[in-house]
Amino acid sequence: AKVTFITSDNEEITLESDSGSVMELAVEHGIEGIDGDCGGVCSCATCHVHVAPEHQSKVGAASEIEQDMLELDDNANEFSRLCCQIEITDEIDGVILRVAG
Ligand code: FES
Repeated sequence: AKVTFITSDNEEITLESDSGSVMELAVEHGIEGIDGDCGGVCSCATCHVHVAPEHQSKVGAASEIEQDMLELDDNANEFSRLCCQIEITDEIDGVILRVAG
């Protein structure tokens, strides 16, 4: 699946992978603002992204644990996800994520 990240400088970077989490993909390619400090166990929020509204249904909603974590982040809104919790599958192909962290 292809995943496009928009960084805080409004740079668009499209990456491709067929497994793992979106956070792992971002960290592997040094996407600025996605640090993945906790290693992907939903306890740091350094992988915070805002999902493009039109892609929200592809990506799905945050889990309850994820929402609790997001509540601590001032930047959180209804489009927020922690991208370590987004599995890369064909389903999310073409998704656009704005780096929020
Ligand atoms: Fe820590 Fe996603 S990497 S919450």
